[in-house]
Formats: sequence, structure tokens, C-alpha cells
Amino acid sequence: MKATNQHILRFGVLSDIHATVFESGKEAKSFVTVPAECGKRNPLTDLHNLLSNTVKLDYLLCPGDISNQANPEAMSWMWNELQVLKTKSNAKELWAVCGNHDVDSRYAINLADDPDPKGVLLDLNSPFPPVTPNEVNHFWARNYVIIERTEPFLHRALLLNTCAYHGGAENELQHGRISSRTIKRIQADLADLDPAYLNVLLCHHHLEPLPSWNNAPDYQFVKKGGELLRALEDSCVGPWLVVHGHRHWPECFYAAGGNSSAVVFCSSSFGARDAQIANQFHVLNVEVDGNTSRPKGRIETYTWTLGMGWSAGPTAEIPKMNKALSHLSGFGFNGNLTELAAKVDAFIGTQSRVNWDDITRSESDLNYLLPREFDQLKTLLKRLDIGIFEENGTPIEAGRKSK
Ligand SMILES: [Fe+2]
Ligand SMILES: [Fe+2]
Repeated sequence: MKATNQHILRFGVLSDIHATVFESGKEAKSFVTVPAECGKRNPLTDLHNLLSNTVKLDYLLCPGDISNQANPEAMSWMWNELQVLKTKSNAKELWAVCGNHDVDSRYAINLADDPDPKGVLLDLNSPFPPVTPNEVNHFWARNYVIIERTEPFLHRALLLNTCAYHGGAENELQHGRISSRTIKRIQADLADLDPAYLNVLLCHHHLEPLPSWNNAPDYQFVKKGGELLRALEDSCVGPWLVVHGHRHWPECFYAAGGNSSAVVFCSSSFGARDAQIANQFHVLNVEVDGNTSRPKGRIETYTWTLGMGWSAGPTAEIPKMNKALSHLSGFGFNGNLTELAAKVDAFIGTQSRVNWDDITRSESDLNYLLPREFDQLKTLLKRLDIGIFEENGTPIEAGRKSK
């Protein structure tokens, strides 16, 4: 079947859960503990309601750090929980890869004389990653696997293990890695495949350096990740969406390259307990029409706050220093931002307040701005004496400021 203009694939992204075993008298590293706390004290318990009542998915994506420090009990429990969430959200499949916390690279769980970094993942009661036995073996042997789905149209996923060398050389656990050989194998595999309407790369570590914690230079990104991004773009097998975790720093941007470089989505942490970060769950609504060289779509983000549960967008309780995505953002706009600001200016005219939904109905490009592009638009509108009035990061109205 061909994609229609209106076909949307919905990907839920639940990353960096860091599930951990509850220990009395000790503050857990994650809000997701075994046993789970109830009553809006645990994002996972509250997510069941959100997925049952509000959010429906095609795929549930988990880019790793499912457990904390490869704890076998937490890993096994959370792995089962992910299957439950998949069912509750109506998702056809769960796609998952391992993070640095899912492999016992420090031999903390296994005895030093019996090291087995990925052993916990191989012992789970259902395959990790959740694909066919041959595909599982390919993932562990070759550090990646490519899977294809043909309904309702051809789309595929590349599941990549960026922790493949963890447990080897001591400093490997400080960053992700893909080797030149693995990139060449992926290139060769892609060369034999038909163009798809959408290609998704799911991995744990970020492929290129990002702004770092405490202004230190970023060293945790995937070594040779930039080369992989170039290879994906040059493969000419259709648009690419990269989804990763690890940084607990939500952002969406385009990889360096031409106009078919990948859309890169960096997920928030779902569970990590850290005053500096927001706990968020995302839904990527990818509008697939076969006409764009880069994915286009909308990002819905839900934010969890201790004692309050899930809400649409960051709440006032989250300190300003936290990096958090607002409830709605997007990707795929390829026009001129100054021209878009001029169109908003013309729509508002001399009115002091106009409903934001009316503006976006007139200028649908507003739906596909990256989070940073939306901030840039606000700067451009400010120069035109136009302000956007937001509630918890969601635009409600825009209007001309009185002079
Ligand atoms: Fe993490
Ligand atoms: Fe990580």
C-alpha cells in the first residue's frame, strides 16, 4: 500500500527509565522503583492511565537505560512492564535497544571471575531486542539489526547497539561507539534495500556532540556517529528519523548534511531522579506521504511531576533551569522563518489578541517548527511588536503589543 497524505505513524518514546530496586532509607536514583510507589509518586504507574485513556501508538520505542547499573531484578521487572505498556497503548510492537546502564560493564553484578556484561539482557524471559531469534542473534553478533514492516506501507528500523564495546577497554563505558566495519556493513545492507517511506534509527547514545552538563566539552557521544549519519543520508533509502536517549536532555534538530539529513530526536529521561532534569514521555507523530526527503511531524510531550502526575507540557513546578520540551513542537519545516513571521504579522494585523489555534490553521507550517525554531520565531515576532502568550509552554494567543 502507498502512504496517503494523511497517514501518521505514532511513536511513543520512553527512555532512560533507570528502574531500580527500592531500598528503605535510601533515595533511589529513579522515580521508577521495584516495588512501585503509588499515588502520583511513580511516573510508570501514572503512565498506565495516560496510555489507556489518552495516547494511542503504532510503536513504543525505548532507547535504553531501562534499568540502573544493570540491576537484574529491576531489568526483568521493567522489561515486563514495557510489554504491558505496549499493549495498553495499542502499539503493534515495542522496539528497544540497550543503554550503558543495561550492560554490566563494571562487573558489579557478575563476579569479577565470571564477567558477562550483556548476560542480564540475554536472560530476560522474552527476546531482547524484541524481534525474531535470528534478528536477535544478528543484533548481538553484528551490533545492529535492520527490520522491515510493510503494513500499511514499507518502513524500517535500524536497531543499533552503541554499547557494544562496554565491558572491554576500561574507558569504553564513558561513551558510545560504532566501528568503521559496522558502518560499512550497514551501508552494504542498505544498498540492497528498496526506498522506504520512513527509516527509524533507534540507539542509546547521541551520535554527535551536544551542549554538555556544566559546560564541559561533550565526550559521551558515539565515536564515528557523525560518519554513520552521513552513511544513512547517502544510502538514499528514504527519510531517516533518529531516536536516542542517554543525555536526559530533550531536543530535536537536523543532522549536518543536505536536505535529506536525518531528523534527530533526543529524548528526555522518563525516570531519573535529578533536580536538573524534567521527567518526560514523548509521542512523535510522523506524517508520512512519500513526498518529503526528511520526516515531517509533530512532537507531543507529557511531563511528570512528583505528587502531580502527568500533564501536557512542563508545569510551573519545574524550575526554569530544567531542560524540558513544551507540550507541542515539531520537525520538518523547510521554509523561511522570517517569511513565516511576516505571515503571522499579517494575520494578526492590528489585533491585540488572536487565538493561536486560528493562526496555526491559517499557517500550518507553524506546526512543524523545531523547538529552537519556535524560540527563533518568537524573537522575530518580538521585533514586529508581537508577543505570544503561553501557558506552561503552550501558545494560547498572540497579539500586537500596545506602544
Ligand atoms: Fe540515562
Ligand atoms: Fe545512558
